[in-house]
Amino acid sequence: MAAKMKLNWLQDNLRTKYLGRSILFSRKVNSTNDWAKKLARYGAQAGTTVVAATQTKGHGRLGREWISPAGGLWFSIILRPKLLPSEVVRLTFVAGLAVAKVLDKVLGLDVETKWPNDLLIKGRKICGILTEMNTKDENVNFVVIGIGVNMNLDANAFPRKLRQQTTSLEIELGRRIRSEELLKNLLQEMDTLFEHLKEEGFDSILGAWKQYTRFLGHRVEVTSPANHSTGVALDVDCDGSLLLKLDDGEIRRITVGDISSPTR
Ligand code: BTN
Repeated sequence: MAAKMKLNWLQDNLRTKYLGRSILFSRKVNSTNDWAKKLARYGAQAGTTVVAATQTKGHGRLGREWISPAGGLWFSIILRPKLLPSEVVRLTFVAGLAVAKVLDKVLGLDVETKWPNDLLIKGRKICGILTEMNTKDENVNFVVIGIGVNMNLDANAFPRKLRQQTTSLEIELGRRIRSEELLKNLLQEMDTLFEHLKEEGFDSILGAWKQYTRFLGHRVEVTSPANHSTGVALDVDCDGSLLLKLDDGEIRRITVGDISSPTR
């Protein structure tokens, strides 16, 4: 992202019901998710969006580091959904579908969704989503959805060990894009899909998300903190878990993990 985002242009042109009603930008933060959680604890309204040009401690799922140099689009949104804690995972799929639709329909890219929170182009990661929630007395107090899009980054922006697994919009499109325009499209798509989730439920969101997958019906390896298994990815269930058919026929429900192609 440019050192400064054209926030005025974004606020004038953004057509959403509530996402991005308030947008804050910083040149450098530890993590936009941490910033958003702090604001949410102080009562920031739902839809508040924070964006940073760089993050010094960007993080991903399972405590992983998220490399966040200038040129990426790093942002987080505060939500206060009427969902049970067990239903919050739906928001990750809504966000993933929104990113997939914008990359596909606006930028013309052949994008793929990968369980549970990744977006890939030609098998390489272009976007990751980190959903974090805060609960009070078994109720959801707030949710922060953090989205990292590798936008105007060339291959040198990534550490050597990640270059084979990672790509960016600049690499795929052969041109740089305007961060405020991409953020506008993403917020608008998410706003529409969050409304859809509220009005119509999760089934059609999950159905549309599955349309962008390539792993379903294929053999995959699943690595989770607890174990490691290989089998055929049968489906993603309505609670967001992966249904994996193991070689002995057992169907295992996996809630946390990463999928990859089997090594043999
Ligand atoms: C993952 O793939 O594990 C999720 C990566 C999420 C990265 C984004 S960048 C904006 C927001 N701030 C963070 O610290 N993380 C998310």
